[in-house]
Amino acid sequence: MPVTTSELKPILVFDSGIGGLTVLREARVLMPERHFIYVADDAAFPYGGWEEPALKEHIIKLFAQLLAEHDPEICIIACNTAFTLVGADLRAAFPEMRFVGTVPAIKPAAERTRSGLVSVLATPGTVKRAYTRDLIQSFASQCHVRLVGSENLARMAEAYIRGEPTDDAAVLAEIGQCFVEEDGRKTDIVVLACTHYPFMANVFRRLAPWPVDWLDPAEAIARQARRLVPLPDGFEPLNGVDPAIFTSGRPDFTTRRLMQGFGLTLR
Ligand code: DGL
Repeated sequence: MPVTTSELKPILVFDSGIGGLTVLREARVLMPERHFIYVADDAAFPYGGWEEPALKEHIIKLFAQLLAEHDPEICIIACNTAFTLVGADLRAAFPEMRFVGTVPAIKPAAERTRSGLVSVLATPGTVKRAYTRDLIQSFASQCHVRLVGSENLARMAEAYIRGEPTDDAAVLAEIGQCFVEEDGRKTDIVVLACTHYPFMANVFRRLAPWPVDWLDPAEAIARQARRLVPLPDGFEPLNGVDPAIFTSGRPDFTTRRLMQGFGLTLR
């Protein structure tokens, strides 16, 4: 018996802004039978500068509302800044819901680096987190890990993906610290530890003082979601648009156009 799409609950993909779209596009490839709901908490963007207790409270409250309204199958928290802070609290507050998280890809970077010099490019919030320090201690203690907390890059990525011009010097000022040279060795992996950044990977590549691997965890996150929600027998692949919710309630024209390009329609 083919499974009709209406029988399947949607997958909720969450970020502070449009960064989670980098994860949504991979999830759609791996989960073609599912509808998605994209939620951008743009009213609170950027998360990177928030104080931890206030952000925690804000996200838990928001999820109480989102889960009640949309009843998703699972939630993908496509935001390092959010998940490294509230991942455990979300699971504790909503034990019936399954959450797929996004955390800095420090473990795979430590496994792959040849030079032993790895950089983590993230928001100031993610860089500060105890969670991030624990990842380094547990999986990369043999490496030299440089944490680079960028104040402006998430905003720049939002502007870039909306088609606004970027200033090379300004981008380089944000990423420059990722490049370390020590005893004849050079950084060879930069972890993109903010879901906004993969949108700018081509710009980073062009401006980098030397070639490195830019590690984007989107596909690994989508694979984890797929594992939690197995493909039903005889599924029907979906066409058509999914809803997107912007918490400000008033996304501008370029945002609407961008969402359309991603097969999303604003609610
Ligand atoms: N996309 C978010 C992340 O992965 C951060 C953007 C923000 O500062 O809100 O960390």
